[in-house]
Amino acid sequence: MTDQPDFMGSMTLEQLQSYDRMHHMHSFTDPIALKQAPPFIIDSAEGCYVTGQQIRLLDAMAGLGCVNIGYGRQELADAAEHVLSKLSYYHSFAAVTNPYAASLAQKISSLAPEHFNKVFFSNSGSEAVETALKLVALYWQQKGEPNRKAIITRDYAYHGSTIATAALNGNEAMATQFGFAEPAPILRAKAPYWYREGGDLSPEEFGLAAAKSVEDLILEAGPENVAAFIGEPVQGTMGIITPPDSYWPEVERICRKYGVLIIADEVVSGFGRSGHWFGQQAYNFTADIMTLAKGLSSAYVPIAATAVSDDVAAVVEDNLGLLQHGFTTSGHPVSCAVALKNLMLIEEEGMVDAIHDDKGPYFEAALSRELGSHPLVGEVRVRGLMAAIEFCKDKTTREQYPAEMAVCDHVGQGCLMRGLIVRPVGNVVVLCPPFIISHAEMDMVASVLKEACNDVHTALQQAQ
Ligand SMILES: Cc1ncc(COP(=O)(O)O)c(C=O)c1O
Repeated sequence: MTDQPDFMGSMTLEQLQSYDRMHHMHSFTDPIALKQAPPFIIDSAEGCYVTGQQIRLLDAMAGLGCVNIGYGRQELADAAEHVLSKLSYYHSFAAVTNPYAASLAQKISSLAPEHFNKVFFSNSGSEAVETALKLVALYWQQKGEPNRKAIITRDYAYHGSTIATAALNGNEAMATQFGFAEPAPILRAKAPYWYREGGDLSPEEFGLAAAKSVEDLILEAGPENVAAFIGEPVQGTMGIITPPDSYWPEVERICRKYGVLIIADEVVSGFGRSGHWFGQQAYNFTADIMTLAKGLSSAYVPIAATAVSDDVAAVVEDNLGLLQHGFTTSGHPVSCAVALKNLMLIEEEGMVDAIHDDKGPYFEAALSRELGSHPLVGEVRVRGLMAAIEFCKDKTTREQYPAEMAVCDHVGQGCLMRGLIVRPVGNVVVLCPPFIISHAEMDMVASVLKEACNDVHTALQQAQ
């Protein structure tokens, strides 16, 4: 192994792999697969590239759509080092704070849509969503409408991995594998997934139809029982589902009509990825609560936040007494300092405008040019630096290849063999590159994907 920090001594690659297989229970990993093949150890990263086992890979996923400013920025390491030696920890319970938490809360409020002026800090996107759910419950109790308990989520949603957030996900196995009771009544609306669900409707017609499914659920449950609607501005994890422009304003109109709160889960879209600071601005709606994580610190350190509107804050905080919620490391000084520096760099270096004016359109053009008419590809979807390549067997009917053929996984493998990390999800390759990706690197992403698709297509033809 190269570049091991000193405290790792002279451990070999094989020793580390063996420790890992014996002692590390991995997220989203089949334990049998881990027994069959050793884990891949990544030990350094710089810019848009990660390196492990002497292999350097262009990371078109920015980790898990989170290392937005790219790997290895010295300014963030310096901010962490400074605060680690000055104030390695203190909590934020019982009206105590630290300079970095106070400044970061102000910074998020200044960047966010005007009516968001309070944030609650936590450590992960899941905790930010859990916090949002608790604040929604408090809001309705304080308003004297405690029956408003139901939460509307959508097919293909992803909101986290804790017990309450997993109950909201489109991937229902994340809840059913464990068998816990739902934390609140969960109602599932249609996703604004035009390519898969839109049939003969135009995207704009389908956007309105998908929004109407929210209204249908509210009326069926009775508005007096519905607490909130939660949605990612662009559904990221389950396949970069970019909604038609008609969708969000109509969802907002419906929710306002029935007094249902809107939670925008901006864990992926927050802080620039859509080419706007927040996905709400890209899709022309405003939420009451928004959840933030990933890009908040570009995942250099764990930190998340739940931002609330002035109205929600006023209701929740009115004569509340003690807020019975919090985490030991909420508002951790080191995490807050790193996040603050990260947001300052995104701002100073004009990264959001660059995505809006240049990189987003360039990415879309490159992917469309190389893949738009490829025989395997049904749709290329791009919004800012979020993109999906969706495969299909028949372009007219949009029929998919059977899951067991794992077409998308084979394309992902083909990319990896050529030095490119993408994320196969079902029938879709997901791309969320770092904001610093260059034109040349975007061209490489598109051309490597095309080569990988060509190989899979040839293999499919030979197998016929
Ligand atoms: C929209 C959204 N919400 C919440 C989460 C959960 O975040 P975490 O994995 O940090 O708990 C994710 C993670 O991918 C996400 O994409």
